[in-house]
Amino acid sequence: MIDLIVRVLDRLFRLREPHKGFLSRSVPVKLNFSYCFGGMAFVCFMTSVVTGLMLSVYYVPSATDAYKSVLEINNAVWGGWLIRSLHKWSATILIIFIVFHTVRVFVYKAYRPPRELNWIAGSLTLVLVLASGFTGYLLPWDQKAYWATVVGTSMGGTVPGIGPFVVMLLRGGAEVQGATLIRFYSLHVLWIPVFMFMVLWAHFHMVKRQGISGGL
Ligand code: HEM
Repeated sequence: MIDLIVRVLDRLFRLREPHKGFLSRSVPVKLNFSYCFGGMAFVCFMTSVVTGLMLSVYYVPSATDAYKSVLEINNAVWGGWLIRSLHKWSATILIIFIVFHTVRVFVYKAYRPPRELNWIAGSLTLVLVLASGFTGYLLPWDQKAYWATVVGTSMGGTVPGIGPFVVMLLRGGAEVQGATLIRFYSLHVLWIPVFMFMVLWAHFHMVKRQGISGGL
């Protein structure tokens, strides 16, 4: 069935032709299961993107309505609790797979030339995923989210010289407030995902160009 759909779409839009080289690449037989962790991280990332897009239909990023809208997603929207859980769990499992993937790359010494730039690109994705977790944590706008963000943003104050400026920048004022919520929402749904897609594109492009490393 899937094959039929793919063939029809291919007839209509000629999807396969430009990606032929990429699609027909074979996987070297000597690779083991640990080489799947990067792909699994990507599946989790895409799940969090799709469920996040669905949540954004009902979530209201304002200090007065954010909490109410999350309750509504949980209790009133059909399947809302499931989408919210999938979003949270895919984001959590994503971090676990990134850690497994990084350990695999490290153990197999795949960070060495010519892949050192890809190691840096990978590290960037880790920073972006952690930033996404931090900004997303505030969005339910409940007591736990509020105080976690108060603590998290106040850590920015320890940066030598520019600490107070960093805190103001993160919070959009002296306190965690409505402006902080809008800032974090914008970062969580727009800036971080856009950067993530750009860095992942570079990451996959380098894997394709350099080929997968040969093991221990
Ligand atoms: C969302 C985050 C990430 C995704 C979706 C991802 C995905 C992938 C995929 C699919 C591959 C090819 C297959 C594999 O080796 O598993 C790969 C390779 C690679 N990744 Fe990642 N990755 C991510 C994060 C990272 C991180 C955090 C690092 C290191 C700090 C990293 C470093 C590398 C390197 C060096 C390779 C080439 C490995 C080789 O040739 O053996 N990646 N990545």
